[in-house]
Parts: sequence; structure tokens; C-alpha cells
Amino acid sequence: KNLRTPVIAGNWKMNKNRAEAKALLEELCPLVKDAGCGVVVCVPFTDLETALAATAGTNVKVGAQNCHFETSGAFTGEIAADMLAEMGVEYVVLGHSERRQYFAETDETVNLRTKAALAAGLKPIVCVGELLAQREQGITAEVVSLQTKVALQGIDAEGLRSIIIAYEPVWAIGTGKTATAEQAGEVCAVIRATVAGLYGEEAASHLVVQYGGSMNAGNAAELLAQPDVDGGLIGGASLKADAFSQIVEAAS
Ligand code: G3P
Repeated sequence: KNLRTPVIAGNWKMNKNRAEAKALLEELCPLVKDAGCGVVVCVPFTDLETALAATAGTNVKVGAQNCHFETSGAFTGEIAADMLAEMGVEYVVLGHSERRQYFAETDETVNLRTKAALAAGLKPIVCVGELLAQREQGITAEVVSLQTKVALQGIDAEGLRSIIIAYEPVWAIGTGKTATAEQAGEVCAVIRATVAGLYGEEAASHLVVQYGGSMNAGNAAELLAQPDVDGGLIGGASLKADAFSQIVEAAS
């Protein structure tokens, strides 16, 4: 665990206009300036410019919430990885379960997006996680391991170094139902073992694996104490500076 610096990333989802984004970041940046972990805010595309300006010269990094896998062309409504990188965006969330569920993303397109993001110099935060029915069937480890393997197909060890994997059990997202620390730790360990199988133990020991799903100021410390949980991908609690900064504090 001490080979890895934890990363706390906020996923704002479809929230905050520019004025609200600016206000939140102006409140957040001073609160997390001494963080002992990485701090990232993944904001709507329309807030990227505002977020980059508001975080300039601070330790808070900016991410987007998706990118397309082609570099340019007739893809109305889409954003290419290069367009993000050129703005100064550093991270991009890929394969979030909401993208899989509502926008028909698959393990295969998540893999293409991950490769496109890496080619543009972005750091992908690749999301994996089982549905409630899959957990009840006892196939969580298989599902998450397969999602991980497909997402990483064709990516070499150097590419892996820029990737964060976020374990987000779908039943815990926005539901107030957090996975227990043991459940989170167990699946994050499965992800690390899967990566070790593909790239070797050494590479896997440097991989940051986050937990996401109703993580908040009250439960963060316990989740982060798990040996294979190296940070969090935070939805609801990232929309308030005090709650988010308390999670950052717990990871520091
Ligand atoms: O990507 C973060 C996320 O899906 C978790 O959302 O609101 O349960 O923290 P939330």
C-alpha cells in the first residue's frame, strides 16, 4: 500500500453550472492545499475551462467524465481525448456505470476510449463494478475481473502506469448503500490480482485502485484503511467542499 499515493477524485456528474463550479472550487482549493493524496475534480465539459482557471497553481487536478475513441470526425455531440488534453485537462473518467447503463457503453468501447485517452496523454480513471443481481449470483469477482481485462486489452505496461481503476459496485452508487469495507477491499484485491496476472506483481503493486459508491466523510477512513483501496471516486459528496475535503483529509 505504501508504494501508492492515494487519489481522491470527485465525479460531479451532470451538476454545477460555471458560476457554481467556480464557487465550489474557490472554497475547496484552500481546504485541500496540504493534502497528502492526489485530488482531482471531474467536471462537466462546460465547466472544464472554469475548473482549469480556478485550480491553476493549486494541487487540485481537473478531469473530464468521458471522451470518444476516435480522434476527430463526424461524431456529433462527442469530444475527442486530444481536445481535452489540449485544454490542460489531466484525467478522464471512462466506463462509468451510468455511461454503460444509459449510453450503451460496453467493455469494448471502454477499452477503445482508454487507448484513445492514453494516446492523448490523459490519465484514465476506468470504472468497473458489478450489478446487484451479479453480486447475488456470486459472480462479482468474475464480472469485475473480465471488465478489467477487456478494458486493458492492448495496453502495455507503460500505459498501465497512467491508469487508475475505480471499483464502483453499481448497487452502491447514489443509493446511500456503501459496500462494507471488507467487500470493497476484497474486490479491489481481485482487480489488483487480475492486473498482476496480466502485467506482473510489480506493476500491479503500483496501480491505484479506488472505491466509489456512496463514499462520504463518515465512512471514508474505514474504506481507505483496506490494504487494496487506494482512494475514492466520489459522487454526491464531491458537490460540497466541506464533505469532499474531509474525504481528502481521511486519505492524507
Ligand atoms: O463516480 C462516483 C459515483 O458513481 C459514486 O456516486 O453519489 O454514490 O458517491 P455516489
